[in-house]
Amino acid sequence: MRKKIVAGNWKMNKDFNEGVSLFSEVINMVNDEIIGNQQVVVCAPFIHLNSLFGLKKGYDKVSVGAQNSHQEESGAYTGEISAVMLKSINVEYVILGHSERRQYFGEDNALLAKKTDIALKHGLKPIFCIGETLSERESGEYFNIVKSQLAEGTFHLSPDEFSKLVIAYEPVWAIGTGVTASSAQAQEIHAFIRKEIAAKYGQSVADETTILYGGSCNPKNADELFSQADIDGGLIGGASLKSRDFVDIAKAFN
Ligand code: G3P
Repeated sequence: MRKKIVAGNWKMNKDFNEGVSLFSEVINMVNDEIIGNQQVVVCAPFIHLNSLFGLKKGYDKVSVGAQNSHQEESGAYTGEISAVMLKSINVEYVILGHSERRQYFGEDNALLAKKTDIALKHGLKPIFCIGETLSERESGEYFNIVKSQLAEGTFHLSPDEFSKLVIAYEPVWAIGTGVTASSAQAQEIHAFIRKEIAAKYGQSVADETTILYGGSCNPKNADELFSQADIDGGLIGGASLKSRDFVDIAKAFN
């Protein structure tokens, strides 16, 4: 049975004290209210990661993740953070290829393939993001875009390496816009992604791959989205900044 995951992406939000209080609220709510085997992941800015692990105190229902890591293990890359550093403070997941990284930092599939290799080498679980822009959706190009992002970013991996990935489909036109993909739209592309994975790695790897939906997911639409056959959870932006909303989304799997 593939893992159900609800991951929060705080993006560039919350100073130190705000992050500690938000994470503490999430931990307490998850402890009291989550009764399924869904995994909750909090992907916070780098400044928080060490303290959040300390706050977890071995509590396994919640994992800590980063929002990016560099494609090299160390070196003259001012301002960057490596997978080695993240692993050294017990970070478990790392978001790679978020559309905002692709858009604002020019991250392409070749670079993201390198980032994925290094993250896997150092024991991190990549949440690998793919998703089309509005113009690519409107032009009907979105299947090809998603297929090339997936293939060029991850299909160089062995079956064993690939099986350590989480895939996140985030239609760029739904991110931060309040316009969510309909459950039918999301299910269509999730099923397509799973079919592409099956064609490359076989049905058992495809069936075990967790594919998350991201893009204006909220407590009102989570139940319907997560009830779809090929949607295994969400990558949550804005709603993850409010503990009540974020945990209510996670409760969709209870
Ligand atoms: O990584 C998740 C994020 O891109 C989705 O953002 O605010 O639409 O939930 P939001």
